[in-house]
Amino acid sequence: MLVSALTAQDAPRYRALMLHAYEAAADAFTSTAEERATEPESWWVRRIADPSGLSVAFGAFEGGELIGAVTVEFTAKPKTKHKAHLVGMFVCESARGLGAGKALVSAALDAARTRAGVRVVTLTVTEGNAPATRLYESCGFKTFGVEPMAIVTPSGMKSKIHMWLPI
Ligand SMILES: CC(C)(COP(=O)(O)OP(=O)(O)OC[C@H]1O[C@@H](n2cnc3c(N)ncnc32)[C@H](O)[C@@H]1OP(=O)(O)O)[C@@H](O)C(=O)NCCC(=O)NCCS
Repeated sequence: MLVSALTAQDAPRYRALMLHAYEAAADAFTSTAEERATEPESWWVRRIADPSGLSVAFGAFEGGELIGAVTVEFTAKPKTKHKAHLVGMFVCESARGLGAGKALVSAALDAARTRAGVRVVTLTVTEGNAPATRLYESCGFKTFGVEPMAIVTPSGMKSKIHMWLPI
């Protein structure tokens, strides 16, 4: 398994992976496949390799296939540019439990650490998502709050656990 930064050329397969993710793990994400399916290719390119550098993504590859991904978002706003936000974490069902998730978080954290001025990484997890919560805890993230009734999912209204990691 290889983890590397995604480029604009990866946008079509990243789009296919994430449209599957929004359907297959609907409770885990705040976007639906229907919403995202309408986004133009330029949106997907900005999501994984924003020309301004404010959004970068990493992919996990197995036998040349994209089997997982994560995105790190930065901001140029002077008062909040010390914070990075991790979104869109997904590993294909058939590749789980083999370390891809941890390798992706590690690559995302390396990107945050090497970006000048970034001091904190944040993320949110839907309540009850034990695999993701354990993964983030194993990478050092700690919970700092819970947003009640944060999202409407196919299985009802769910809270979001907010986590952070100082770097
Ligand atoms: C969460 C997810 C990304 C984990 O990916 P993965 O490749 O299976 O994770 P890894 O194999 O790297 O496991 C890393 C750690 O995560 C935790 N973990 C992973 N799967 C787990 C499970 N089923 N139950 C409990 N803990 C689990 C463990 O702490 C594990 O470390 P360990 O193997 O040393 O115990 C994957 O299950 C997934 O894509 N889920 C659906 C989408 C999702 O929930 N995304 C997160 C949105 S916030």
